[in-house]
Amino acid sequence: MIVDKLDRPLRDLRISVTDRCNFRCPYCMPEEIYGERYSFLDRDSVLTFEEIARVARILVSLGVTKIRLTGGEPLVRNQVDRLVSMLSEIDGLNDLAMTSNGYLLAQMAQKLKDAGLQRITVSLDSLDEDIFKQMNGRGFGTQRVIEGIAAAHEAGLAPIKINSVVQRGVNEHVVVDLARFAKERGYIVRFIEYMDVGNLNGWQPTQVVSADEIVALIDAEMPLKAVDGNYDGEVASRYAYADGEGEIGVIASVTKPFCGGCTRLRLSPEGAIVTCLFSGAGPDLRGPMRSGATDGELETIVRSTWGGRTDRYSELRSQTADAPRKKVEMYHIGG
Ligand code: GTP
Ligand code: 5AD
Ligand code: SF4
Ligand code: SF4
Repeated sequence: MIVDKLDRPLRDLRISVTDRCNFRCPYCMPEEIYGERYSFLDRDSVLTFEEIARVARILVSLGVTKIRLTGGEPLVRNQVDRLVSMLSEIDGLNDLAMTSNGYLLAQMAQKLKDAGLQRITVSLDSLDEDIFKQMNGRGFGTQRVIEGIAAAHEAGLAPIKINSVVQRGVNEHVVVDLARFAKERGYIVRFIEYMDVGNLNGWQPTQVVSADEIVALIDAEMPLKAVDGNYDGEVASRYAYADGEGEIGVIASVTKPFCGGCTRLRLSPEGAIVTCLFSGAGPDLRGPMRSGATDGELETIVRSTWGGRTDRYSELRSQTADAPRKKVEMYHIGG
C-alpha cells in the first residue's frame, strides 16, 4: 500500500480509454469547440489494451482494488470488452466497473458481462425528451439509453447506477421524475452537483444546484432518510427511501467536498497519470513504456507521483477558483 502526503492510500484507478464521445454535452464537450474539425488523439497516441493492462497490473500490486473504465465514452473504443476481459483476470482486483452514456449499451451489455465487467453506471441527465436532447448536445432521444440500461440490468451488471448532473435552470425541475423512474426499476440514481471541471464549459457557481436542495426536492415527494456509506471514501452520500424501496445518492463535490477520503488515480487515454480531477496534467507512462522501461521503473514513477500528492482542489475551490489555471477536460479524463 502507498500513501500520499495527506496519508490517503491509493485504492481506485479510473481509466479513460478514449477522448472521443458520441455525445456533445454542453457542460463537457461543447459542440462549438468539439465540432467536425476538432482533432482527437490519433490511434498511435492512445495506449493499447496491453499497455493499459500492464499499468493496471502494476497499480493493483501497489494497492488498487477497484477499477472504473471511463472516457470520453468507453463504448466507442473498438472491442473494449477485450480490455475488460484482460483486466478481469488481474488478481487482487475486486471491483471492475464502467461509466457510460448508455447510447451503445444495448448491444454491448451482455458482452461486457461475459468479459467480466461487474457493474455499470449510466449517465442520464433527464427523462424529458427536450431536456435530454439539449443536454447531450446531439439531439438524441432517451429511448436508446433507457434500452441500454434495461439490457445492462438484464445482463446482471448490478447494481445499476444512473448519474445525473443537475444544472440550475436546465434540469433541476425534473429530478423527481428521474428519481421515481429509478426507484420503480431498482436503479440507484446519483445526482451530481455541476462542477468546474476543465476550462471550457463556462461554469458559474450560480448554475450549481446543491445536494441539500436536490434531497429536499425528492424528500418532499418521496420521503428519504440519510444512511451510512458503503465504503470509506465513497463519493456519493446515500439516502434511502423511508418506505424501504430503494435509495439515491448525491455527489456534493462543490458544497461538501470529499477530498479527505480521495483515493483515486486517473490514467488518461495517452498514458498520463493524473492525481486529481482538477489537475492540469500528470507524469507520462507511455514514453517510458514504449522505450523499454521495466515494471520496476514504472512502479517508481507511480510511487513518487502518489507519494508527493497533496491535491484537494474541491476543498480549496473557494480560495482558488478565480485564479486562472489549466485543468484537464472531463471528456479526456472521465470524471
Ligand atoms: P461508485 O464506485 O459506484 O461509488 O461510483 P464512483 O463514485 O466511482 O462513480 P462515477 O464514476 O459515476 O462518478 C460519479 C461522479 O462523481 C462523476 O461526476 C465524477 O466526476 C464525480 N467524481 C468521481 N470521483 C471524483 C473525485 O475524485 N473528485 C470529484 N470532485 N468528483 C469525482
Ligand atoms: N460536473 C459534474 N459532473 C460532470 N460530468 C461530466 N461533466 C461534469 C461536470 N462538469 C459527469 C458525467 C458523467 C460523469 C462521469 O461525470 O455526466 O456521468
Ligand atoms: Fe457527455 Fe460523458 Fe460524452 Fe462528456 S464524455 S460529452 S459528459 S457523454
Ligand atoms: Fe480527489 Fe481532486 Fe476530487 Fe478532491 S477534487 S476528491 S483531491 S480528485
